[in-house]
Amino acid sequence: MSERRYVIDEMISAKQIAARVEELAREITDFYRGTDKLVVVGLLRGSFIFIADLVREIGLPVEVDFLEASSYGNATESSREVRILKDLRGEIEGRDVLVVEDIVDTGFTLSHVLAILRTRRPARLEVCALLDKPSRREVDIKATWTGFEIPDKFVVGYGIDYAQMNRNLPHIGAVRFL
Ligand code: IMP
Ligand code: MG
Repeated sequence: MSERRYVIDEMISAKQIAARVEELAREITDFYRGTDKLVVVGLLRGSFIFIADLVREIGLPVEVDFLEASSYGNATESSREVRILKDLRGEIEGRDVLVVEDIVDTGFTLSHVLAILRTRRPARLEVCALLDKPSRREVDIKATWTGFEIPDKFVVGYGIDYAQMNRNLPHIGAVRFL
């Protein structure tokens, strides 16, 4: 845990998140309509609350799997090196896949993860990201669906952490150092 003191300013309320999750799920359901099974892949750990809410609103046969890629450690700066710390349990060859990510920031994590998953030849591979910080992008990549575009602020809550804390906040807030 960091020594630096900070406060959290609410940025997106729990109510706004719930409304947006419902919209995203509707679009995803329409997009994959007719599929025999949608494999929803949550990127650990930041997406765990988002994926839990999202899959409950998706009106399709769904399998849930998780993948953990290394990225930030305990700092607020992005590292470019991405390793798979925990791989999927299931096969995705020929399957419809939806990757669920908390935040697309520089884009390194997502582009690496997609490159790895593409080698397994899924039928369709799309991405739903809760948050997008387009001003921070270094890799030309965009999620198929994005919940909210946000400015270049470090955020926490609704599954997203700062030094592993604040994931349990029901809303999304910006960290302000004192
Ligand atoms: P990228 O590889 O730079 O796109 O980083 C994406 C990952 O960094 C996300 O999945 C988050 O885990 C983490 N991240 C990026 N911005 C924030 C933030 O504001 N708060 C907490 N984690 C973040
Ligand atoms: Mg992440």
